[in-house]
Amino acid sequence: MAMAKPSRAGPSPPLPRCFLLVFTILLAAPAHEAVAAALSIGINYGQIADNLPSPSRVSSLVRSMQVSKVKLYDADQNVLRAFLNTGVEFVIGIGNENVSAMLDPATAQAWVQHHVRPYLPSTRITCITVGNEVFKGNDTALKDNLLPAMKSVYGALGALGLQGQVNVTTAHSLDIMGSSYPPSAGAFRPDVAPYITPLLDFLSAARSPFLINCYPYFAYKDDPSGVPLEYVLFQPNAGVTDPVTGLNYDNMLYAQVDSVYAAIQALGRTDVDVKISETGWPSRGDPDEAGATPQYAGIYIGNLLRRIEMKQGTPLRPAVPIDVYVFALFNENLKPGPASERNYGLFYPDGTPVYNVGLRGYLPPMDESDGARTVIHLFALITIASITVMLS
Ligand SMILES: *[C@@H]1O[C@H](CO)[C@@H](O)[C@H](O)[C@H]1NC(C)=O
Ligand SMILES: *[C@@H]1O[C@H](CO)[C@@H](O)[C@H](O)[C@H]1NC(C)=O
Ligand SMILES: *[C@@H]1O[C@H](CO)[C@@H](O)[C@H](O)[C@H]1NC(C)=O
Repeated sequence: MAMAKPSRAGPSPPLPRCFLLVFTILLAAPAHEAVAAALSIGINYGQIADNLPSPSRVSSLVRSMQVSKVKLYDADQNVLRAFLNTGVEFVIGIGNENVSAMLDPATAQAWVQHHVRPYLPSTRITCITVGNEVFKGNDTALKDNLLPAMKSVYGALGALGLQGQVNVTTAHSLDIMGSSYPPSAGAFRPDVAPYITPLLDFLSAARSPFLINCYPYFAYKDDPSGVPLEYVLFQPNAGVTDPVTGLNYDNMLYAQVDSVYAAIQALGRTDVDVKISETGWPSRGDPDEAGATPQYAGIYIGNLLRRIEMKQGTPLRPAVPIDVYVFALFNENLKPGPASERNYGLFYPDGTPVYNVGLRGYLPPMDESDGARTVIHLFALITIASITVMLS
């Protein structure tokens, strides 16, 4: 077992090797049980804040929620270390500011060697996102460099023998869409389409998913009197029927995802999965941000969790359960922009839920990790003592 190789954060008294072994055996069974029972839901762990709990406390919180997948916007080593051997899977990211540097194969290889290799297989890093919402911005060089950087990272994984173990993709904003309604008319923006065609060829060859950040909240906020609340909150409603496919949509999120499938298909591809790298609903906003309340946020996330539990697919891909990373774990106090931007969290930084959706979480107090370690050491000691007694 490749455990305990990279340094554990924080001071901890040196333990004899046999203690660690017993510790691992004792913890192995419950950990796997927890993963089997875990919700197949991902959560975005954004860290644009100066008041968040330490990664080791967050690791306890996430596990207590039975969440099995976490997405980072970088490859924060303190976080990856805090989740070693927890069974939680990770999507890690290369920030936009670092994308162009990856064109150099040696840089890409060093990055993988440093940020991916040491954690496998103890922490399963399943995917690397190269850049985030690159086509939303105006950086032409970045747009041009995106696909070559993805190929370079993919090549680096191959060179290190990790090909097939870790996907390589990028996450898009929904505003890459030129049209998304009805879903069958989905098409990429004309200025973006030329970038997307070769990107899809890469994703198909690399068997990696197409990631999209979808916020029905934005549509509601922009037109609260025109967009039915039930339709964006997954509440009972007649839905809308796509006149071309005849498929009925009872919620906007599925319509958005299927419009992306349609846009991909219009470019001639049918073999690339679409996954939702972000979706969420803010619990607070500025006075002009309609619908940003804890009540609506709770309904959106609660109903979304129910759909995920049902392993539902979209009308166009009913057999493929939606794959969703909720945005976000915590409110992030340093995010710029309107107030809603700082209020997407399921939790306040102190671990209190912002609203109740039945996702129970437990954020241990500051010194819990040391306390827990003491208990585990004692447990290990007692176990070793009883084994010794039994053997003698
Ligand atoms: C990413 O970019 C930042 C800012 O330019 C730099 O400080 C950092 O070292 C880069 N990280 C990697 C892994 O290249
Ligand atoms: C991109 O450029 C357009 C036109 O110059 C401008 O309206 C828009 O605000 C810019 N977007 C960003 C993200 O800078
Ligand atoms: C990579 O993405 C493909 C396509 O979505 C998926 O089938 C596969 O399970 C992913 N691999 C990992 C390691 O998650």
